[in-house]
Amino acid sequence: MARLTVVKILAVAMGLAMSGSLFAGKDAAQATDVKDWNVVGGEKDKAMTLKPNMENGMDVYEVCSACHMPEGWGMTEGTFPQLAGQHRSVLIKQLADIRALNRDNPTMYPFALPESIGDEQAMADVTAYIEKLKMTPANGKGEWAGGTPEFEKGKKLYADNCTQCHGDNGEGIEDKFYPKIQGQHYRYMLRQFEWIRDGKRRNANPDMVKQINGFSDADMAQVINYVSRIPVPKEDLAPSIDWLNPDFD
Ligand code: HEC
Ligand code: HEC
Repeated sequence: MARLTVVKILAVAMGLAMSGSLFAGKDAAQATDVKDWNVVGGEKDKAMTLKPNMENGMDVYEVCSACHMPEGWGMTEGTFPQLAGQHRSVLIKQLADIRALNRDNPTMYPFALPESIGDEQAMADVTAYIEKLKMTPANGKGEWAGGTPEFEKGKKLYADNCTQCHGDNGEGIEDKFYPKIQGQHYRYMLRQFEWIRDGKRRNANPDMVKQINGFSDADMAQVINYVSRIPVPKEDLAPSIDWLNPDFD
């Protein structure tokens, strides 16, 4: 696939986003509060049981690559998250939640719909493709390097509040739909964390919401700074920051 196609998709996406037409109408009106963060059944469960077709996954990923980049690395400034290396369960759940309007994502919404990419099989395929991509060796990081008081404070906050779900090194738990957060971009995580704390991310896990309820903005910046600096195991990283995904040259 030519990178030019990707640029064209992105231009359309940005045009739509700026015209404000994406979320108008009945879809937005139907969005309601989600009480159960991880509903049983529906597209998510079906996609999890289907056998993925990697070839089709690559074809579907073409549209995603406009924003998440051909390498799946997103943008270091955090507009688009890194998807590469994320647990497949998490990718499927988030995609299903975005399609069902349980998680607001007006920029991506039209591109994630069945009319655009296909049904549960397409979800199974594209997430299998993404999960296998190697992660960026240079994710967006917070401002405080190791050894600074802010880094140390964030490290302690992490150990006291996050490891039970996201693991000692931010690796998450695949079976429980707990995301991998190691290697993710700082600004993206900060935005999500704030939305989860303040009730804006409607598919959030209620136990996480409770756990971070007392976090000040400073606590939030420090703990996410720490997470953004947790080293990613070498075998999960691409060989260099100049690596280009050969499937899309
Ligand atoms: C027009 C741009 C755009 C396109 C195209 C796009 N996305 Fe996204 N995607 C985003 C944005 C922006 C976010 C983050 C939204 C936020 O900050 O809450 C996102 C978030 C996600 C997430 C959640 C990540 C996480 O860590 O929770 C997944 C999964 C995802 N996208 C998958 C896909 C897939 C698969 C495709 C292709 C079918 C796709 N996206 C196409 C813009 C896009
Ligand atoms: C009780 C389990 C739990 C605890 C404790 C918890 N989280 Fe989470 N976290 C989750 C789950 C589950 C999600 C994904 C929710 C969903 O499906 O939308 C999540 C999502 C996130 C995200 C967004 C990831 C993405 O890709 O969009 C960030 C960042 C995050 N957590 C950071 C933290 C930090 C930092 C702490 C500690 C201060 C913490 N979490 C504590 C379970 C937890």
